[in-house]
Amino acid sequence: MSMSKEPIVIVGTGDFGRALATRLHRFGFKVVLGSRSPSTVEAKVIPQHVELLENKEALQRGNIIIFAVHRQSYEALANEYRDMLKQKIVVDVNNPQTSKKGAQSSGEYLGSLLPESKVVKAFNVISAWALESDSFGGSKQVPLCSNNAEARRIIFQLVRDIGFEPIDRGSLKTAEELESIPFRFFPSWISPVAFSFILLLVITLYEFLRRYVNNGSVNIRQPARLNLNGEFSMFFGIVAFCLLCVLAVCSLPSVINTMSWREWNFAQSGIGHVMIVCAFCHMLTMGTYSMIRRKWTLSSNYRLPSVFYIEIAMGFLVIFLRLLLYTPCLYIPLRKIRHGWERSANGNVKPKGGAELRSYENSYV
Ligand SMILES: NC(=O)c1ccc[n+]([C@@H]2O[C@H](COP(=O)([O-])OP(=O)(O)OC[C@H]3O[C@@H](n4cnc5c(N)ncnc54)[C@H](OP(=O)(O)O)[C@@H]3O)[C@@H](O)[C@H]2O)c1
Repeated sequence: MSMSKEPIVIVGTGDFGRALATRLHRFGFKVVLGSRSPSTVEAKVIPQHVELLENKEALQRGNIIIFAVHRQSYEALANEYRDMLKQKIVVDVNNPQTSKKGAQSSGEYLGSLLPESKVVKAFNVISAWALESDSFGGSKQVPLCSNNAEARRIIFQLVRDIGFEPIDRGSLKTAEELESIPFRFFPSWISPVAFSFILLLVITLYEFLRRYVNNGSVNIRQPARLNLNGEFSMFFGIVAFCLLCVLAVCSLPSVINTMSWREWNFAQSGIGHVMIVCAFCHMLTMGTYSMIRRKWTLSSNYRLPSVFYIEIAMGFLVIFLRLLLYTPCLYIPLRKIRHGWERSANGNVKPKGGAELRSYENSYV
């Protein structure tokens, strides 16, 4: 654990500023949070042992300043504190809200606003959620860049000291590339996955036509090694198993490190859900037919339900509970809470410390 005598200053008391302050403090750093108006920030949302000061006062306390504010605030902050920030390290954590090729990166923009400061681009690929929770997955790699080699080295060490894996990407010119990472979505996976899926569908359709369609009509009683029920069951079982394999591969640390937060979230949540539905359909198509034949009776000696009953009931319960979370009365407040809102005493969900609900955060949560 590193102990730094000089505090690290974080400007902005929003989700990211507070999460980074918590993380830095956990790893032994002194942290000062800067706010435009500390008196209006609810004391309970500020991490314990972190000092909260007015921006100007906070900036005087350290030489490493982290701007945990949106790009729109950079100009006002730079105009107000340009002199105070001279020769200091200023870290830009911003992510653009949309991915626009060729647009000036926020790292370069901040560099142009503060030509006499040592601007470093870092931490933008880590979400506030991941900063606060180590158990929550996602890549632990933090690429960073700066035109100032010394500043780059200091932030490189800082990233390492708080449990992430720093990657030096060179000069601030690469900031655009760093800012595109959260928008990345399996660029090298899409073609092979689409090809495999189309191939699977074509072969399945071909087999279906070959075995079950006679003179334009579907004959599911035609003798075959498996009946149609069995074919569907096999299909869902194979897809579920393949997705489970993809999930397992996506849970390997070496693979996680190559994934953006958005990709990791999709793999664990999106693929996970499809896998559960396919596994459920596999059990349903496999079990229901024999259950119907047995008229849903309990056939064992001890009158215990068959394993199909249990598996179908469990699958149904999991999917039902998941769908329940998508009902508007649960989904909307949950989404707001995830995006930094909190429930007030009268039961309404309102922004935490004045934070606004932002659409770009969909790429994180
Ligand atoms: N949230 C994430 O998971 C995440 C992940 C990676 C990167 N980031 C980046 O981190 C930055 C902050 O994101 P956030 O989620 O923490 O946003 P946020 O919750 O909206 O907080 C932004 C904070 O900036 C301060 N601020 C607002 N307007 C300002 C102005 N005109 N001048 C000075 N300060 C101002 C406010 O603090 P005071 O009212 O106390 O001054 C506000 O709480 C953004 O650039 C974002 O792209 C966020």
